[in-house]
Amino acid sequence: MKILVVGSGGREHAIAWRLAQDDVRHDLYVAPGNAGTADIAQNIAINAEEIENIVMWAKENKPDMVVVGPEAPLVKGLVDKLEEAQIVAFGPCQAGARMEGSKRFAKEIMSAAGVPTGKAQVFTDASLAKAALKDYGLPVVIKADGLAAGKGVIVAETLAQAEEAIDDMLVANKFGSAGAQILIEEFLEGEECSILALVDGERAVLLPTSQDHKRVFDGDKGPNTGGMGAYSPAPVVTDDMLPFIKEKIILPVVNELKKRGIVYRGILYAGLMITPEGARKAQSGSRINVVEFNARFGDPETEAVLPRLGGNFAQALYNAATGKLADSDIVVKNDVAATVILASGGYPGSYEKGKEIFGLAEAASRGAIVFHCGTKSHSSTILTSGGRVLSVTGLGATLREAVDKAYSGLEAISFDKMFYRRDIAHRAFKRG
Ligand code: AMP
Ligand code: GLY
Repeated sequence: MKILVVGSGGREHAIAWRLAQDDVRHDLYVAPGNAGTADIAQNIAINAEEIENIVMWAKENKPDMVVVGPEAPLVKGLVDKLEEAQIVAFGPCQAGARMEGSKRFAKEIMSAAGVPTGKAQVFTDASLAKAALKDYGLPVVIKADGLAAGKGVIVAETLAQAEEAIDDMLVANKFGSAGAQILIEEFLEGEECSILALVDGERAVLLPTSQDHKRVFDGDKGPNTGGMGAYSPAPVVTDDMLPFIKEKIILPVVNELKKRGIVYRGILYAGLMITPEGARKAQSGSRINVVEFNARFGDPETEAVLPRLGGNFAQALYNAATGKLADSDIVVKNDVAATVILASGGYPGSYEKGKEIFGLAEAASRGAIVFHCGTKSHSSTILTSGGRVLSVTGLGATLREAVDKAYSGLEAISFDKMFYRRDIAHRAFKRG
């Protein structure tokens, strides 16, 4: 197949890499890609959010399928425009992408579909929002409705922090239009996991479970990031939970959207909170609650999940995109995967770019898979060009083997002010 992957991060490198592992050979393009995708595909100099230019490229070059990685082009309607041009596109239409683009919309769908999630209310007025805080207890969660690059969620430990978050969003407009509406949400206790479901508008197949590490420092300290590492499977999700997740969370959402005329195709990513027995139960009464939905593959979850998939990946994506998904489309290998992000000093705050990266070949020779997140080529060198720079994945028969393989690989890599978490998968190890 001739396939265009849209995006430039570790997720898109992993998607292109996994497509390149298929038994059948594909003709692969990535827009705009990075120094890593350039090795396995042809990079096209069009940014992911240049919707018109991507559609124009696709009309001229007639790929069999376009796989859209990031949320921004989905929310901007790239898939709708490609479909108008009769090009098969993997990813939800603009209306479907609202599951990620509007937390209010996602709550409405969950409520109509009876999906367990934290109790929440929507506000546009700061004083009404503050008055409602008394109904929630502490901690309490304040969320901007729209896309805010992962920064629009405040878990407030005190009333003063909650009021400040409300003022930041509704009065000071810190998040622009994304924060013009906010949600106050019940705090859910427990451990998070990521469920990526492949959806064809009607049917769904769950991909292997995973967990990411959102905080920047070891021991889950410091500010939230896009993700500092991941591993798959996530043992917090036991096999007996999977039917519930599919039948009571994923499929009801897909059906509710369909009822409203929205055919959801692509990845429906459910961020779940699993509350342990004995902990404070959510008002929904369920131990498994949705924290959020995303309309795309997770990053860095993808870098841990996709290397575990066997079979013909391009065909699986194509079948989902064309409404013909079958359970047999997804084959999971026995390997366990762990992924560690190498980041630029200062991330998730400000950081420098343009640092030369050393040791990539040595990392690969140690058996690690190195995905590029924020890199670019400069003559014969590879330079950093983002906060998250590389995503190093190890596969093994056990989680210990996978983690060791990832760390042994990344220890060969260096660039100025590089840092990474040393405790990826610590929760899974604690479970024994
Ligand atoms: P979101 O962007 O909605 O995934 O929120 C970002 C992070 O905030 C999540 O990954 C959780 O760690 C945390 N969070 C969001 N909502 C809640 C909640 N209701 N209870 C506890 N933690 C939450
Ligand atoms: N790793 C979290 C996300 O992709 O949203």
